[in-house]
Order: sequence, then structure tokens, then C-alpha cells
Amino acid sequence: MRGIILAGGRGTRLHPVTRATSKQLLPVYDKPVIYYPLSVLMLIGIREILIICTPEAVSGFRSLLGDGRHLGISISYETQEEPRGIAEALVIGERHIDGEPCALVLGDNLFYGPTLGRTLRDAADSLEGCVLFGKEVADPQRFGIAEFDASGNLVSIEEKPAYPRSKHAVTGLYLYDGRASRIAADVRPSPRGELEITDVNQAYVEEGSARFVPLGDDCTWIDVGTEESLFDAGDRVRRLAQEHGVRVGCVEQVALEMGFIDADECSRLGRESGDSPYGRYVVDVARSLNGTYREGESP
Ligand code: TTP
Repeated sequence: MRGIILAGGRGTRLHPVTRATSKQLLPVYDKPVIYYPLSVLMLIGIREILIICTPEAVSGFRSLLGDGRHLGISISYETQEEPRGIAEALVIGERHIDGEPCALVLGDNLFYGPTLGRTLRDAADSLEGCVLFGKEVADPQRFGIAEFDASGNLVSIEEKPAYPRSKHAVTGLYLYDGRASRIAADVRPSPRGELEITDVNQAYVEEGSARFVPLGDDCTWIDVGTEESLFDAGDRVRRLAQEHGVRVGCVEQVALEMGFIDADECSRLGRESGDSPYGRYVVDVARSLNGTYREGESP
């Protein structure tokens, strides 16, 4: 399976913070936003990843992540000249996808939770058509909302409905079979002038091959598009680190746990991060997985 992170956009709701930098390069507590969606693709087991960003931001992403070799993955880059819509990611990424199944994740979406990896891998293993991951929300008017029939089958997705038919939002993570680029190429701009991902998803819904997989209550989903949600995400990640000693979205840890790198490589990456709490955590993770960790030992 191929992976795409869509990390362009204008980020106008975060101005002036995003005037001179990309939203996906901003920090959420200890690491840049893009680490979180990257760790999600890696958790699925995906090792060929395309990052799509604005022409101005590509050098920043490259200096942060390079070609991904240090994480045991391959990262390539394409640019989107204008934010013409999320569905355009599947068109820009056509060569990368190359007719294979793919996962598309929005570069400003955070997902974490103890059952997340298993849920995503199960969905990817049994993929037919497309899989949309859902989460119940309190304010459905702000999201793409799924509608189900009496037997629980997905019958439609409505973008920001005035009168929502459920509280199940479609999150920014989508799995598609090998036809996604072809379907996206037929999408025409919506009244707001964007190539809507909902139109791609709706094409799968209409042929009866879209599956809606709700993420468990123990899974958190945050879209860091506003000052409040960006701050809230940082606060939650900080609390998990300080109260539970877990740094979610740690790409080095996921690479190690998925077997993409070994403990020596992980430890080296931690040391290269400098004398930061994050770097020490990575060294510690490598030690504990290596079985040589002793409680109280300073990493
Ligand atoms: P949005 O949050 O909808 O848009 P934005 O990031 O431009 O922010 P704002 O509304 O504040 O101006 O986008 C969701 C994600 O998808 C985000 O990571 C940016 C990305 N995106 C693109 O890369 N290209 C696009 O054409 C669109 C619409 C979004």
C-alpha cells in the first residue's frame, strides 16, 4: 500500500502564525505536526510515502524528513501550486500510487490511541473499495457527516450539513483501492471551487463499496486547523508525556516497533536529536525494546 500526506493549504485560520511557515511544520508540544500523520501511515505498515506541500514549504519538509531512509521508509515530495482541493492529492499522486491501494491522510490531522494501529491494519488488510474512518462529534455541522440506513449501511456523506443525519464525522484518513486516482480525475470543482474528497468518497458509496469504520472511544482525533485545536492538541500530548511517559506521534518509536529500523539505529536517531527531552525519549525507547533498559537509568 502507498501513502500520501497532503500538507499544503493556506492555513488562513491560523494567521499570522502560518504566514511565513506551513501549518504542518508548526509544533504540537514536542514535534512538528507532520510527525503525527506520518506515524499513522507507518503504523499501517506503509513504507512508500509521498508528501504533497506548497512550493514554498518543500525545502522545510525536506530538511526535516529527507528521503526517510533513517526511518526505514522512502519519502518523496510533490507540490500543489494552489489549494485546489483535497481530491487533487490523488491526481498529483497518481504516479506514486501507480494503481496500487493507497492511504491518504491530511497533514494537520492527529490520531492516537492504544487500539489505533490494530484497527487501521485490519481495515487495510481487508480493503475493498474504500474505507473511511469515523469519529462521533458534538458539532456535526462542521464536518463531513455519514448517513446510514436502518441496517447500518453507509448511504451518503454530507459536507457540513445544516441538518445532520448523524454525529459520525468522516476523519482525514482514507484508504482506497487502486482506482482512486482515476475516480479523482473525474471530479469537477464544487460550488466553492474545490475538488472535494467527499465526491471521491461518494462515488465509492454509490457503488456500494465504501466502508465506514468507527474509531474506538480510546482513539483521539484532532484536526489542528484552529488556534484552539492546535493549543488543545499540544496540551493533550504534553499531558500524555508528563503523566504517562508516552510521546504519541514519535516516528522513531513507530519505525522501531514496526521493524523498519533496529534498536541501534533508533538509539542513534535519538542521540542525533541532540540533548532534548524528545531525543532522550527515543534513546530510552530503543533501550527498553532492546531489553537492556534498567529503571532509573538516565537515558
Ligand atoms: P483545511 O484545513 O481545510 O485548509 P487549510 O489548511 O488551507 O486551512 P484554512 O482553512 O485555515 O485556510 O485543509 C485540511 C488539510 O488539507 C490541511 O492539512 C491542508 C490540506 N490541504 C491541501 O494541502 N490542499 C488543499 O487544496 C486543501 C483544500 C487542503
